Amino acid sequence: MLYAGMDFDAIDLTNEPPAREPQRQYYFMKQLREWLEIKKEKLHRPLYANVTTFGCQMNARDSEKITGILKIIGYEMTEAEEADLVLYNTCTVRENANLKVYGRLGQLKKQKEKNPEMVIAVCGCMMQEKTVVEKIKKSYRNVDIIFGTHNIFKFAELLSMKVLDEPGKKKMVIDLWEDTTQIVEELPAERKYPFKSGVNIMFGCNNFCSYCIVPYVRGRERSRKPEDILAEITCLVKDGVKEVMLLGQNVNSYGKNLEQPITFAELLRRVEKVEGLKRIRFMTSHPKDLSDDLIEVMRSSEKICKQLHLPLQSGSTRLLEKMNRHYTKEDYLLLVEKIRKAVPDITLSTDIIVGFPGETEEDFKETLAVVERVRYDSAFTFLYSRRTGTPAAALSDQVPDDVCKERFDRLLALVQKISAEKNEALVGKTVEVFVEEENKQDPALLTGRTSGNHLVHFPGEKALIGEFIQVRLEEGKGFYFLGSRQV
Ligand code: SAH
Ligand code: SF4
Ligand code: F3S
Repeated sequence: MLYAGMDFDAIDLTNEPPAREPQRQYYFMKQLREWLEIKKEKLHRPLYANVTTFGCQMNARDSEKITGILKIIGYEMTEAEEADLVLYNTCTVRENANLKVYGRLGQLKKQKEKNPEMVIAVCGCMMQEKTVVEKIKKSYRNVDIIFGTHNIFKFAELLSMKVLDEPGKKKMVIDLWEDTTQIVEELPAERKYPFKSGVNIMFGCNNFCSYCIVPYVRGRERSRKPEDILAEITCLVKDGVKEVMLLGQNVNSYGKNLEQPITFAELLRRVEKVEGLKRIRFMTSHPKDLSDDLIEVMRSSEKICKQLHLPLQSGSTRLLEKMNRHYTKEDYLLLVEKIRKAVPDITLSTDIIVGFPGETEEDFKETLAVVERVRYDSAFTFLYSRRTGTPAAALSDQVPDDVCKERFDRLLALVQKISAEKNEALVGKTVEVFVEEENKQDPALLTGRTSGNHLVHFPGEKALIGEFIQVRLEEGKGFYFLGSRQV
């Protein structure tokens, strides 16, 4: 087996682990593979690992990297949390994301009593917060390994420290980095879907929106080199991938800090040239940095999907300023106008926060007005969550829960009404659909997506999975369409 240009079988474990990455990690993977073989023989069964992901697409991609490492080690992946290794990749963007993790960790206590050699690992954004780690150390002693967002690549080394250096000992292995400038390339990654993949183009965030914890837990912005991104995509395409989702907290500021700076629009032009790649998506776009050049690339591209996620957060310029978003309501509306003029049939989605500190009924009505004006195809709506350490958490005029809830319901009703109307207008149209999988509820149906990211279920043969076909949208069902294949 060749990984990162090195022969895995030839790694000599009698040597010291190499200092260079990623070679060092392959050494630990091999060490763990041998350890796992012995365990399997003893137990007369495979060893199972469960990776549960909370949060955004960044975390989903990180979990694919962790899964890639686990599979090289020799674990069988399972959806069941009754496994020999359970890993939670956590999110802390809102309070309820944290609560879910504590709940799950509590439930694992019983399972570990049954299977004392079970390994429990937690990583991701929550672990970058000191208070969280203190709480786990105190109240969740069953956790074996804690690491954060900057050292995902080191997972094999940390697992090896736990199971090989101190087998049976109770000590937790904790490895947390405040920030990093390092990007380790060429580690394995396992994809959830054979035909599409997320691709990180940058890590971290420099925007410090005043409500948001992400810059504190993901560190400063770091872009991958365009060569590395293109090499990864070329490799993915060779392996069957037809659609990529370029990932970053603010893809529009991609490349600014590279030794040889390059814009996101230019990166897209290069990705477009990858032969065999059919569809390109990206997220997330911060409205303040969306350039005319990017709009031009989207307009002239054959591969970039007709879909844009453009978080609004609030329709009140007064609040946008308090949120540190660097655009006004008017800027945002103008941007939408420009994009729609260039790409008329584009699907627009957004994120909106309800109940940011100091939000008045007037502010909220402005948000409703923008939603009515833009008419989003879909919108993710969130109740403001007070994140300790962010500037907004210190503001004294927090909005009472009942007021937030009432506004949230009104916004959701409007968003859903518009979304249903927009979907209804598409019924009867025949569109290109990329067939992604068998429908989870009904195996007679297939599930695919349009360029505009609409989900469509339709009857069809499994052999169509991974193909682009024409489907007539027969019925809008809220979050999805029912369709029929046109030949
Ligand atoms: N980088 C992306 C967003 C990442 S977080 C961007 O700027 O668009 C995803 C969404 O979570 C945000 O767009 C915001 O709407 C929401 N969010 C972030 N912090 C929040 C908080 N404290 N309370 C409620 N929602 C929040
Ligand atoms: Fe958070 Fe703002 Fe960065 Fe998005 S751009 S991750 S909302 S700080
Ligand atoms: Fe959550 Fe971290 Fe993403 S906080 S939203 S998983 S970057």
